[in-house]
Amino acid sequence: MEGVIDAPMRARLTGIGGYSRCVTEFVRVTDVLLPERVFFRLCPELMADGCTPVGTPVYVQLLGSDEQALAVNAKRAVQLGAKGVDLNFGCPAKTVNNSMGGSILLREPARVANLVRAVRDAVPAEIPVTAKIRLGYENSDSLADIVHGVHEAGASELAIHARTKFDGYKPPAFWDIVKPVIDNRTQRKTVINGEIWTVEDSAEAMRRSACGHIMLGRGALSAPDLAQRIHEDNTQRQPIAWSKLIDEVLDQFLCSDRQSPRHIGNRTKQWLAYLKRTYPEAAQLFQRIRTLHNAADIEAAFMTHKRKDIRCSSNFTVG
Ligand SMILES: Cc1cc2nc3c(=O)[nH]c(=O)nc-3n(C[C@H](O)[C@H](O)[C@H](O)COP(=O)(O)O)c2cc1C
Repeated sequence: MEGVIDAPMRARLTGIGGYSRCVTEFVRVTDVLLPERVFFRLCPELMADGCTPVGTPVYVQLLGSDEQALAVNAKRAVQLGAKGVDLNFGCPAKTVNNSMGGSILLREPARVANLVRAVRDAVPAEIPVTAKIRLGYENSDSLADIVHGVHEAGASELAIHARTKFDGYKPPAFWDIVKPVIDNRTQRKTVINGEIWTVEDSAEAMRRSACGHIMLGRGALSAPDLAQRIHEDNTQRQPIAWSKLIDEVLDQFLCSDRQSPRHIGNRTKQWLAYLKRTYPEAAQLFQRIRTLHNAADIEAAFMTHKRKDIRCSSNFTVG
């Protein structure tokens, strides 16, 4: 997820467990071969065999609409060690769509298929090429054509965020719309995504969509052990306790967020906004750091939070 799930976050989430793979933030491809540093910046795991520290493969996600440029950049990503290449046809951002990237391509199912085929042909057969789509742009009328085209083009897997571009991120996600467009052959290569926040949601999303797998986005940030609980099919276990998670949040701040001086604290604030959904204490910490832009002040606020808020809120701490 652009601006939120970077390499330290992938290391953290896969370290907790339950993930079979990760996808990077998108690499914007125009009409040129990008310098190597762009790939290493968005996917530092390339320096470690393309995997997170616990060995979970990381696929490099490309976003663009130029067949040749996507093909050469996919090839380059693989030469640098990417374990797979994912193509983004889901991004709803205006700036991205205005330059013919992301979800706007869903208006042209044949073009989506051609882009997948171009990348599939460019990289070795053993390297997975996956795609991520929404149900459509304005509506889901072309979904069957898009899904059929992507699978026919040789995609190893297709993730479907069960909303149109027009739906944005507004609940609900329309898992049921996916079911009629997949069959026995494509079912195990299709991944359902959108509005999966709990173990129960994951079972319901798979049942209603008939997809064989799920992808987590914001749910992974709001409950970092959600994938682990889904993997164990454990509806009883409470989320990891805040008193344990707080050290992960602080560590994420220290190793990720502090590194970009102009935006110190932004990523941590964004993560806390997701964590609030599961942990009331995250809202308290968010309040403490909301207006702070200095690393030392933010670190001090973490310490105050640990000393004061966690002790006070122990009555409602989960786990
Ligand atoms: C802040 C933000 C950044 C995102 N960045 C990406 C991205 O770079 N690539 C991508 O395929 N999807 C991206 N997404 C979409 C998510 O991967 C996911 O499809 C969407 O949030 C729905 O799933 P969820 O309800 O589990 O979050 C992003 C979503 C958000 C909210």
